[in-house]
Amino acid sequence: MDYDTLILGAGAAGLMCAAHCGGRVLVVDHARAPGEKIRISGGGRCNFTNMYCEPGNFLSANPHFVKSALARYTPWDFIALVDSHGIAWHEKTLGQLFCDDSAKQIVAMLLDLLKASGAELVLQTGVEDVARSPGGFTVRLSDGRRVQARNLVVATGGKSIPGMGATGFAYDLARQFGHAVTDTRPALVPLTFNADRFPGLSGVSLPARVAAGTASFDEALLFTHRGLSGPAVLQASSYWREGEEIAVTLAPAADLAGALKAARQTDGRKALPTVLARHLPARLADHLGVELGMSGNLADQSDRALDALAATLADWRLKPTGSEGYRTAEVTLGGIDTGGLSSQSMESKHVPGLYFIGECVDVTGHLGGHNFQWAWASGMAAAGAI
Ligand code: FDA
Repeated sequence: MDYDTLILGAGAAGLMCAAHCGGRVLVVDHARAPGEKIRISGGGRCNFTNMYCEPGNFLSANPHFVKSALARYTPWDFIALVDSHGIAWHEKTLGQLFCDDSAKQIVAMLLDLLKASGAELVLQTGVEDVARSPGGFTVRLSDGRRVQARNLVVATGGKSIPGMGATGFAYDLARQFGHAVTDTRPALVPLTFNADRFPGLSGVSLPARVAAGTASFDEALLFTHRGLSGPAVLQASSYWREGEEIAVTLAPAADLAGALKAARQTDGRKALPTVLARHLPARLADHLGVELGMSGNLADQSDRALDALAATLADWRLKPTGSEGYRTAEVTLGGIDTGGLSSQSMESKHVPGLYFIGECVDVTGHLGGHNFQWAWASGMAAAGAI
C-alpha cells in the first residue's frame, strides 16, 4: 500500500480529517488552492461555527444521523483549536462566530495542522478512476499516478458554486459503490421573482419572518434586482419547493393593527403608506400602498380595515419563480443517503474502508456556521475511526 488513507477533496472536511487521522495520508484536490470555500466564506471572515449548534439545525432524511458526530466534536472543541492558534474571533449575532481578521487564518490553521501531521497534499490533480483492490482501493489520478490506499475518504463537497470547481463527483462515486443518493437541490439560496414583481425595491432590507414549508425564520430580508435574499430568505429556501408560496411577516415585532389605530387618533389626515413607513422602509410602504390598493387617509379606515391590513402584512404571500440555483447557493441539500453510512464513523456500511464526510452527505445545516461545524465534526468522526 502506498498510503494508509487517501482523502479526495482538500476542503473543510477533508483537511480536518487529514490533519487528525494519522498514518501515511495523501490529500488530492483538483483546485489550485485548498480550502477555497473557507477562504470566501462569511464575507471573507468565515463563520466557522455556531455556539448553539445542535441536531435541530440540520436537514436530513434521517434527523438523528448527525447526533453522534456533533456530540463528539462540538463547537467548543473547534473554538479551542482556533484559540490555540491565536486566531481572534467574535460573535456577530445568534451564536455565529467569525474571525476578527480573515478567513485565511482558518485555512492557514488547517494547513499547519496538516503539515504537522505529515500528510501530503497534491493540488490541481483530478481523479480518473477509483476501484476496489485487495485490502483497499486503487485510484488513478489525472497526473497519471496510480495510488493504492487502505482507506478512501470522499470529501469533495456538493454541487454549489460550479464556478469554483464544485462537481457531483462524490455522488457518482457513492453510486459506483452501491450507495443511494437522495435528490439534491440548491439550498441557502436567493429566491427569484418576475422582473417587475418588486419594482424599485432592490437594496431595501428589513427584519422579517419568512416561512416556507414547515419552517420559519426571523432574520433580515433583502430585496434584490432578481427577487429576495437576506438570511431569512436563504434559510427558508432550504424548505421551499418549486410552485409553493412563501409567507412573509413584515415588522414581526410590531403590533401593526394597534399602532395604526393609535395613529388614527393623532395623524388621521395622513395617508396609510406614510404612517406605515414608521414601521417599514418607506420605499416598501409606498410599494405596498400600490400593491394593496390603499386609498384614503388613516381617518377613513375602520377598525376592521386596519385589522385586515395588519393581517395581510403579517402573512404576505409570495410565489417565487425559482431560485438562483447552484451558481450562488451556499450549500447542496440532499446527498449521499445516510442509511448506508455509520453515524459513528461515516464509514460505508457495506464497503469497509470507504468514508464520506462533509457536504456530500445528506446533511445540510442552517445558515450561521452550522455547515462548517458539520464538516469539522464529520471529518473528526472519520479521523477517529481511521
Ligand atoms: P468543500 O466544498 O469545502 O470542499 C470540497 C473540495 O473538494 C474542494 O476543495 C474541491 O476543489 C474539491 N473537489 C470537488 N470535486 C473534486 C474532484 N472531482 N476531484 C478533486 N477534488 C474535488 N458555511 C458555514 O458554516 N459558514 C459560512 O460562513 C459559510 N459561508 C459560505 C459562503 C459561500 C459563498 C459558500 C459557497 C458556502 C459557504 N458555507 C458556509 C458552506 C461551506 O463552505 C460548506 O458547507 C463547506 O465548505 C463544506 O465542506 P466540504 O469539505 O464538505 O466541501
